[in-house]
Amino acid sequence: MSLMKSALLAASDSRYLREHATRVGFIRAAVTRFMPGEDVESALEAARALRQPAVLTHLGENLPSTEAADEVRRDYLEVLDRVRASGVDAEISVKPTQLGLDFSRELCERNLFALIERARALNNWVWVDMEQTSYTDATLEIYRHARERYPNTGLCVQSYLYRTAKDLEPLIALGSGVRLVKGAYKEPADKAFPKKSDVDESYFELAKQLLSADARARGVRAIFGTHDPVLIRRIEEHGRAQGLPPAALEFQMLYGIRRQEQERLAAAGYKFRVLISYGDAWWPWYMRRLAERPANVLFVLKTMVAR
Ligand code: FDA
Repeated sequence: MSLMKSALLAASDSRYLREHATRVGFIRAAVTRFMPGEDVESALEAARALRQPAVLTHLGENLPSTEAADEVRRDYLEVLDRVRASGVDAEISVKPTQLGLDFSRELCERNLFALIERARALNNWVWVDMEQTSYTDATLEIYRHARERYPNTGLCVQSYLYRTAKDLEPLIALGSGVRLVKGAYKEPADKAFPKKSDVDESYFELAKQLLSADARARGVRAIFGTHDPVLIRRIEEHGRAQGLPPAALEFQMLYGIRRQEQERLAAAGYKFRVLISYGDAWWPWYMRRLAERPANVLFVLKTMVAR
């Protein structure tokens, strides 16, 4: 891992920076590249302007109290209603620690089930994000409980973890929704592939698992959450070789990243959703976006000079 990437991931955990840097004007301005605004209306407006289905996520993680988790649940319940009223095709994606996982699994589960139930009544869908490895076991268990009760929910899995190929088997057996990503956190070498080429290869192997005849027969909804052009081509080619039409493959990308590729995939007939974030707790999330591509730091500096 490069020094810059390490520093940015360390900054993502810094409480001091979170409290102070987020008030700096040029940093706030630079964030708008990845996030249309802090309120949900901005996210809905952006989805409408892009004329593409979306996934909305309210930024925040590791909350200070159980009350804060209840507040997040209430907020998402309202968002699901607002999405319905807006006519925008938007699912939601939630972080387990935002729903209270640091306090108890039961609390997190209760909050998650409430969201999935409301989403089901509205014919919508809830995605569960995957956070650091200290949460992986609990997140898998909570998701399994949810999926045993409800069909309209999916889980994110990370190709940088050695364990993911094994974790995928029971998820496929359950006919789950699975969003495959590379992984955005700082993880030790005994848990995650340190080399990018290994993370990429692992991604492709997992993608093949998700597109297998068995996974399709079980009704798995596979999402490829990546901006990586090489991997996207390989997955497209693999889909063609399996005789799958483009509409059988679904991609998701983050708002503001590789917009042309987002349009190309949608125009080629692939299912596509753009993940749009909102909320004021954007510091750790933004640092992870910079760490994914340290050249983005130059963009922040340019924003500073331009002001
Ligand atoms: P990679 O990092 O190799 O990037 C490939 C190319 O994409 C780059 O060369 C560049 O062109 C472009 N690119 C990628 N990131 C960029 C950036 N920040 N700025 C500008 N260009 C960029 N992670 C996680 O741990 N848990 C989760 O729940 C999720 N959820 C999630 C949902 C969705 C829909 C997406 C797309 C991603 C996530 N992630 C995530 C983040 C994921 O783990 C990963 O960190 C990023 O997607 C970046 O990895 P890529 O697959 O894009 O490849």
